[in-house]
Amino acid sequence: MRKAVLVVTLFVGAVALAAPPASSPALLEKGKASFTLNCVPCHGVAGAGDGVAAAALNPKPRNFKVDAFKNGEKPENVFKTVSEGIPTTVMVAFAHLTEEERWSLAYYVLELRGPGVGKPVAAAPAADAKKKKK
Ligand code: HEC
Repeated sequence: MRKAVLVVTLFVGAVALAAPPASSPALLEKGKASFTLNCVPCHGVAGAGDGVAAAALNPKPRNFKVDAFKNGEKPENVFKTVSEGIPTTVMVAFAHLTEEERWSLAYYVLELRGPGVGKPVAAAPAADAKKKKK
């Protein structure tokens, strides 16, 4: 029991103090593995928001390549989204993953987002397309 309390305390402290580690090929590999396990059912293999569960969801999982990120798209923003989730949606918090794994996911999501941000590769919702142009 004491151990559990200690773990929770350390964990909360770690989230508050987290500074982004540098990205690296090894970290991205880790991110890919975790993404395949935890995120692909909704976001799809390439992050296009077309996983097997996506059709049944509203709001739809974000298409990383074309949709705006409402929480921001710096690594620390995506880390926060993964850690805390998006309230009232099925995008739940992945706080049970280690901090390193959540950073690896943040970098991998941005890798999938790629340099083509704002250049739609698939039909994007009109509202998002407009937002990108500003
Ligand atoms: C059960 C389905 C589901 C799973 C699993 C899931 N997501 Fe999501 N995700 C969503 C939905 C739905 C949204 C859009 C929510 C909204 O519109 O606010 C979303 C949004 C996002 C966003 C956009 C955040 C922003 O600022 O707009 C990111 C980044 C993200 N997810 C990353 C992940 C990662 C990384 C994983 C795996 C660890 C994951 N998601 C797992 C459904 C899911």
